[in-house]
Amino acid sequence: MSAQIIDGKSIAANLRADMAKEVEKLKTSGITPGLAVILVGDDPASQVYVGSKIKACKEVGIESFEHKMPASSSEQEIRHVIKNLNENPDVHGILLQLPLPDHLSEVQEDLVQTIAPEKDVDGLTTTNAGKLFLGHNDGLVPCTPQGSLKLIHSVETNLSGKHAVIIGRSNLFGKPMAQLLLQENCTVTTAHSRTQSLPELCAQADILVAAVGRPKMVQDDWVKPDAIVIDVGINRMENGKLCGDVDFDTAKEVASALTPVPGGVGPMTIACLMENTLKAAQAD
Ligand SMILES: NC(=O)c1ccc[n+]([C@@H]2O[C@H](COP(=O)([O-])OP(=O)(O)OC[C@H]3O[C@@H](n4cnc5c(N)ncnc54)[C@H](OP(=O)(O)O)[C@@H]3O)[C@@H](O)[C@H]2O)c1
Repeated sequence: MSAQIIDGKSIAANLRADMAKEVEKLKTSGITPGLAVILVGDDPASQVYVGSKIKACKEVGIESFEHKMPASSSEQEIRHVIKNLNENPDVHGILLQLPLPDHLSEVQEDLVQTIAPEKDVDGLTTTNAGKLFLGHNDGLVPCTPQGSLKLIHSVETNLSGKHAVIIGRSNLFGKPMAQLLLQENCTVTTAHSRTQSLPELCAQADILVAAVGRPKMVQDDWVKPDAIVIDVGINRMENGKLCGDVDFDTAKEVASALTPVPGGVGPMTIACLMENTLKAAQAD
């Protein structure tokens, strides 16, 4: 039997509609949530992502502040913009669109850490990462893992005791995803480029999450029958179309539920960014 296709697009649209009501309520108490997005350089993919985030802000009623900076910007110039946004009371969330241009790659992490933790809607500062690690629920959690967990919950509410395998250990996704699933009482295995016997390991997973960036790497024989499969990867194929890290057409014949690319995790990332901005504004 073919898997249930988890419709991230429609789940995200419902989330945004609910949030729009919350934003309206907050506005009546005199607070308009504000999200500042800093885009350095003219990477086409980053421009598309920023455009989608600003569009989502409009839909939900969040005010957006776009800071476009030239690719040649220095570390000091970016620090200065972040400092001003940290001090701006109209801004509740600050997002530094990554990756930064090559000449800034070595200071990218330092720049992220200059964002005030209470405005760090990407959840990447040590304060927010530490809160997630310790299980404190007053921090801001990275958007893509948060959205992925919502998609898993849309098909299965009780994850206790399930074996979750996450392929990928980035700070942005793999590590926070592992923490979220651990909090759900899953038994979590984090795999990466040095993991041995990866297909066999994945085939033991009740929940399989792929975040690698390798088109169609996860084949149907990597998928345990009736597993929930979340495909985080975004890869552009030669024909210009997007595909995930999972071979969708074959995996859907084995899994119980599966996210498509596009239309799965991507829209949830943006919806959770809106949620984090709202949370930051509510805490103001
Ligand atoms: N849908 C969304 O909203 C969204 C958001 C964020 C990211 N993404 C996508 O998700 C993917 C991953 O993003 P990321 O930022 O986490 O990437 P990343 O920082 O490049 O991390 C990739 C991870 O995959 C592991 N890996 C690489 N080759 C592997 C292999 N052959 N076998 C097993 N593991 C392997 C790496 O292992 P090592 O650590 O050992 O190098 C690393 O941990 C990308 O396609 C990205 O575009 C999507």
